[in-house]
Amino acid sequence: INGQEQEPAVRISTRTTVFPVFYVDDGAILDIQFGTFYYPPPEGGYDHGKEVWTNDIQRQVVPFDHKTTIAEFCYADRSVIQKAIDSALKNRIKWNMLPVEQRANIFLKAADLASTSWRQDLIATTMLGQGKTVFQAEIDAACELIDFWRFNVQFLADALKYKPISTTDSDNTYSYRGLEGFVAAITPFNFTAIGGHLASAPAMMGNTLLWKPSDTAVLSSYIVYQILQEAGLPPGIINFVPANGQIFGKTITKSPDLAAISFTGSSATFKTLWRWVSENLDIYRSFPRLIGECGGKNFHLIHPSADSATIVYATIRASFEYSGQKCSACSRVYLPRSLASSFFDDMKNIVNNELKISSPLEFDTFSSAVIDNKSFDRIKAYIDYAKASSSSKIIAGGLCDNHNGYYVHPTIIETTNPNDKLMQEEIFGPVVTVYVYDDKKFDDIVDLVDQTSPYGLTGSIFCQDKTILKKTKERLFHSMGNLYLNDKSTGSVVNQQPFGGSRLSGTNDKAGGPHFILRWASPISIKNMK
Ligand code: SER
Repeated sequence: INGQEQEPAVRISTRTTVFPVFYVDDGAILDIQFGTFYYPPPEGGYDHGKEVWTNDIQRQVVPFDHKTTIAEFCYADRSVIQKAIDSALKNRIKWNMLPVEQRANIFLKAADLASTSWRQDLIATTMLGQGKTVFQAEIDAACELIDFWRFNVQFLADALKYKPISTTDSDNTYSYRGLEGFVAAITPFNFTAIGGHLASAPAMMGNTLLWKPSDTAVLSSYIVYQILQEAGLPPGIINFVPANGQIFGKTITKSPDLAAISFTGSSATFKTLWRWVSENLDIYRSFPRLIGECGGKNFHLIHPSADSATIVYATIRASFEYSGQKCSACSRVYLPRSLASSFFDDMKNIVNNELKISSPLEFDTFSSAVIDNKSFDRIKAYIDYAKASSSSKIIAGGLCDNHNGYYVHPTIIETTNPNDKLMQEEIFGPVVTVYVYDDKKFDDIVDLVDQTSPYGLTGSIFCQDKTILKKTKERLFHSMGNLYLNDKSTGSVVNQQPFGGSRLSGTNDKAGGPHFILRWASPISIKNMK
């Protein structure tokens, strides 16, 4: 990006990438061929992909150097979105009829490509476009994406093992189909893997889709799209449609064929989608499924018996890696008074002296700029609020500078008000608020943790007393999506900690677990008399 050769771990391009919207509208035969497999096209073939160039050109900039444009892309208008819907519908039955093994093999091939020839592009575009360090980009855009593709094939294969009981007079079958209509995937900036996953899982189950990537992750999403094409995904199955969020949302929810929305983003946007769906309830052919992962106000709950080094290390990583922009990031800490002084000293020392906040192209950078100016302003407003409030004080950080990049330095706030908005609202930035409690009041604090926030995504309990740990886990069992015992609140791994939240954090459909793929199925039971 500086016109210089970089370290070999990523390949940095000096080019600006310009690319179009894709949809399908003309008929051509497609052969799917890869590896040692050959799949004849279904009768009639697929409709072939078509690039659409519109005049509405948007830019994706580098968050840590916002004068640099990394990609220009076309926004789809209403009519292009409608054409994409038409093409998804046109290809639906043919795609659904393709044997499931053949569909699954495309995603296995995509996983191979992501781990080999496309790996560098995935990591580089995630670093440059979304401001991730090389480490964060790799665990996301390479590792997690590959895991999603491979494990979903496994989960699908496991689901297919179910056989209903047949009797002396009837044979019974149970088969999976995609949903009747099209699926819309609306995906976030913070994980390239989430975007790829939300678009791919419905397609693996036999659905055809529109994929609207986040404007601030459009380039890495486009790389994922290209990998899928190279792996043999026929054009028109996943239609890549960058668009204005309002226009996209309104257009899809006004279509009678909307079958489902696959969403990750804010709770407010998810509520808006529900509202738009409810306004159109009478037009739909079937009840749309709304599957979403939304906000969080994730906590570290620290018991006096917690290991003091662990809580510092865990809180630094969970609150500040990727500038606190993981859905799972820790943003409220409940700290016993007996541990407060060493915790604050250690945290302050690390934030002031050890965390390099810079361009991710310097490979010892710990974290970089936040995604865009809107995020910068929102996070800064919370920090300004903390500075002005009589119940809170800044322990470390608090610097914000958006001259060259959208930099917010890791910020630790102490509050004396456990119900302050700093303890309740999602900030989605490198800001953690700590409430210090009286050691004897741990039991009351557990209730407070549970009742303070409307969310139920992730939370961690740090406690070395096994009896209290078990009791606390049981009390929080009913409200949380992902609970961590003596570990940080971030970093779920596919098929190790399936991920998703309850309450206003979403529909808790658990990405990376066995059930997610089934949410995209409309199974059919057939009774056949002998
Ligand atoms: N799965 C990620 C994590 O746990 C968040 O989306 O950090």
